[in-house]
Amino acid sequence: MTSRQKFYITTPIYYVNARPHIGHAYTTIACDAIARQQRMAGFDTYFLTGTDEHGQKIERSANAAGKSPKQFVDEVSAEFRALWDKMGIKYDGFIRTTDEHHKRGVQEMFRRIRDNGYIYKAKYTGQYCVSDELYVTEGGPGTPCPICGNPTETVSEENYFFKLSAFQDKLLKLYADQPELIRPETRRNEVISFVKGGLRDLSISRASFKWGIPVPDDPAHVIYVWMDALSNYCTAVGFGSPDKRDHDMFAKYWPADVHMIGKEIVRFHCVYWPAFLMAAGIELPKAIVAHGWLLFEESKMSKTRGNIVRAETIIDVMGNDALRYFLLREIVFGQDGSFSFDALVQRYDSDLANGLGNLSSRTLTMIQRYFQGKIPYPSAAERTAADKNIATLADSVIKNYNQLFGEYQFSRALEAAWSLVGAVNKYIVEQEPWVVADKTDEQGRSRLATILYTAAEALRVVTALVHPVIPESTRKIWAQLGLAKIEQVNPQALKWGDLTLGANLGTIEPVFPRSEKNAVERMQQMEQERAGGAKPDSTQEPAGTGAVAGQPATQAAGGPAPNANAPSLSPTAKPAPISIDDFAKIELRVGQVKVAEKVKGADKLLRLEVDIGTEVRQVVAGIALAYEPDSLIGRKVVIVANLAPRKLRGLESNGMIVAASIGEQGSPVLAGFLEDVPVGARLK
Ligand code: ME8
Ligand code: MG
Repeated sequence: MTSRQKFYITTPIYYVNARPHIGHAYTTIACDAIARQQRMAGFDTYFLTGTDEHGQKIERSANAAGKSPKQFVDEVSAEFRALWDKMGIKYDGFIRTTDEHHKRGVQEMFRRIRDNGYIYKAKYTGQYCVSDELYVTEGGPGTPCPICGNPTETVSEENYFFKLSAFQDKLLKLYADQPELIRPETRRNEVISFVKGGLRDLSISRASFKWGIPVPDDPAHVIYVWMDALSNYCTAVGFGSPDKRDHDMFAKYWPADVHMIGKEIVRFHCVYWPAFLMAAGIELPKAIVAHGWLLFEESKMSKTRGNIVRAETIIDVMGNDALRYFLLREIVFGQDGSFSFDALVQRYDSDLANGLGNLSSRTLTMIQRYFQGKIPYPSAAERTAADKNIATLADSVIKNYNQLFGEYQFSRALEAAWSLVGAVNKYIVEQEPWVVADKTDEQGRSRLATILYTAAEALRVVTALVHPVIPESTRKIWAQLGLAKIEQVNPQALKWGDLTLGANLGTIEPVFPRSEKNAVERMQQMEQERAGGAKPDSTQEPAGTGAVAGQPATQAAGGPAPNANAPSLSPTAKPAPISIDDFAKIELRVGQVKVAEKVKGADKLLRLEVDIGTEVRQVVAGIALAYEPDSLIGRKVVIVANLAPRKLRGLESNGMIVAASIGEQGSPVLAGFLEDVPVGARLK
């Protein structure tokens, strides 16, 4: 019995300090696509993801949410898992660092490293970034973290240290011997120069908080969260277990073939992790592949910044495959790329609905109509140069696509696949099968059969190739082509001419309906509601909703969204409860409109001057579609008086008018009073 070759791929395990967003979905989708492709190619594939649940950051987030760490991590970890399930991510393992088998494995890792002489105890005084869980050895109090730029905290405690300094030469040799280990090249060069700059020993335990895995034989210390987290890649496949089956599993899958990560955690994966493994005497992973960042409003989408977009919004409106296709097609893997709803919908319409969707529906509908739904037999006699060109192109696309995909150049691979889609759509227009269909003689029938066969065969090739990227829709197209089990097609063995002739088509249904007219607005609106008022898109003016009149909350004054540090955790996306003290921070006052006028060039904006008792404030509000300026003069309104000022269309806005948001479009209705109230009165 020959055993199949294995393939083991991992995502980072995500912190559960806040809910998942499309940055996490990006890595997970990329790994899912690779794993699917490897399964199709016959590999015994193991795809691991999971959640990183220990450490000071998580402990603090739990405190802030008023929950025990365990309750908190259970809830958020379940959200990650539920999202991946909803998105159809086909992971083989989902590890949580609070799993008992993981804890045992991490302690075993620690013990091995200690037994091999690489751990000692000493006093650490230095800086620490809680957000990145990173020791920053240079600099004093307040020194910014090199990863996130936030001020670091000073830590002074007796800790266990890992002799990282002993690995400088070994690591440099490793990078030189295995140039394929760190990808892409730019990251590899960064790592090499970092290590050349010198390595200091690394503190690998903390004694000042409890939420972690105890150091074996010294439970006053918990193991440094990055040693804990990185070890997941081993513990998830059986490391540290006394069980024979786990042992066999580890022997089978380790070392990992690919650790896929974002570029901000390269140091942990390319320096610390190989050093830990060498110290423990464990084989090293074969590749660490770092991709770039998904940007939103020009900066990295991140929980800490609060400028996030949730995957749920996109998949609810556009579907799973739209998000997968967009992320892998639009962003050059390895580089940073911007996310925007507009670009997403454009890609969907042009490439999926009009591109592949159109190719599929016109080809299959004509086979249905002209050949009673049976794949027609091509005729050698009626074969033209145009048909041959498509066949030749298809074979070269198969080759290019597989090569590019294997190098994780998803966008270029998909571009290659769509060059075939485009060529066949053009071919169909040029061959005019609907005109040929009018010829009822033998020759005409043969020509028609050949054209439709060519289109269907090209459709089969593209569908199989891109199945790992858009699994749901390609499975449908496959069934419509009358074929079975797309998961079992080996993309490497794919070649022109394998379509089953005479086979019956399945039921033909549109696979990519055209996107709804207001898809972009709907997604923006959903994000706004989910984020509890934080507006995800930095358009010049508020997008027609009164609730944020004149004051989009997101990044309003360069700071994080108000909910950035108070993640809402309920699955129904209700904002988390706040204390009365939190509410008291919002200064709500009665104001009276003195001046109201339209803002030039902005349909939705009004410039108001509002008397709030102590002063007259200029406020720019997105209510112009709902209120005539004159109707507002003298009206009493509720104003949020202590919002940081913000510029809209060059006008400074000093406060926000409170309004209810009605209906899909969020049409604003101003809050007011039934009784008379004095200007300046505080609402509480
Ligand atoms: O770093 N663009 O967890 P994390 C692209 N627990 N990818 C993004 C992204 C963005 N804007 N935001 C997040 C941790 N990601 C540690 C990892 S592993 C042993 C421990 C993705 O929740 C990307 O893969 O901060 C990034 O590396 C990862 O999520 C960080 O997730
Ligand atoms: Mg992070």
